[in-house]
Amino acid sequence: MAIQWFPGHMHLTKKAISERIKEIDVVIELLDARLPGSSANPMLAELTGAKPALKVLNKQDLADPARTALWLAHYNSLPGTSAIALDASETTPARRLIDACHALAPTRGSMVKPMRVLICGIPNVGKSTLINTLTGKRATKTGDEAGITKLEQRIVLADGFYLWDTPGMLWPRIIVAKSGYNLAASGAIGRNAFNEEEVALELLDYLIQAYPALLQARYKVELPPGITDEQLLEEIGRKRGAVLSKGRVNLQKAAEIVIYEFRAATLGRITLETPEEFGQWLTAGRLLDAERQVKKDRIETDRLVRFKKIPRPPRES
Ligand code: G4P
Repeated sequence: MAIQWFPGHMHLTKKAISERIKEIDVVIELLDARLPGSSANPMLAELTGAKPALKVLNKQDLADPARTALWLAHYNSLPGTSAIALDASETTPARRLIDACHALAPTRGSMVKPMRVLICGIPNVGKSTLINTLTGKRATKTGDEAGITKLEQRIVLADGFYLWDTPGMLWPRIIVAKSGYNLAASGAIGRNAFNEEEVALELLDYLIQAYPALLQARYKVELPPGITDEQLLEEIGRKRGAVLSKGRVNLQKAAEIVIYEFRAATLGRITLETPEEFGQWLTAGRLLDAERQVKKDRIETDRLVRFKKIPRPPRES
């Protein structure tokens, strides 16, 4: 996919997490409820080991409630993990967060043994907004583009309850192609880093299968069997007057409309993946990645043999 991937503060954040993790009791990962699988950091488990994990499905007001329930059940079924759904309209989320952490680490939370919690998440997932609500002041700046939180900061949530914030972080490589598209559609990736038409087409391709009624209601379009994402994007452009000279549709404009209306949920409350679908994408992605690695290893071996750095390995039968 044509995404220029800027992992942002990745190295610094990785270092900060690795250094802090020894003294952490619970790791909160803020996920985007519209794409919980794709917004989960695949490196996090590696960095945090077997620490109890609280998955917070944020922006639930934008997501499909039935699918949020599926994701909560999925995470709650994993060992050492629990999940809650949240959105910015909840004015006092601290109690639910504190209770969920206590359930995961019941021996912590006193003045003698304080609860030490680390919070992480991808850029734009709503971490600054949540922390502002928790602290009741503008402790961190919010914004609509990648990671504004710069420095690790400690927040006292209650007596004996400390929260360490980390900068929004993406990871070095995307293994699941669909995740790249979903992250771009959600606003987690800066707008200059991807092709909007391509992202809108992927989005429509998914919505035709998963949310046809929402598309019909919003754009007043027919969805005959077999309609393609390209045909639908054209139709939406035409309906919305995104037309150039000689009646050609301005596909860029049409794509911007679709992405904007998905983000704002004017299209409806949508979740771009179920736990089952994401599991399948992940399995396929890992397989492809392993094949790619075998190919790369072969190229490297050939190069070393060519420059006589190593003897030619025996042929596989
Ligand atoms: P970050 O620190 O994780 O990078 O994210 P931040 O809090 O800056 O939030 C990114 C955008 O997401 C902000 O919108 C914020 O208002 C919005 N947001 C955060 N939590 C929720 C939520 O639960 N529901 C919804 N619908 N939106 C949420 P923005 O348009 O960039 O700025 P703003 O003008 O709305 O503040």
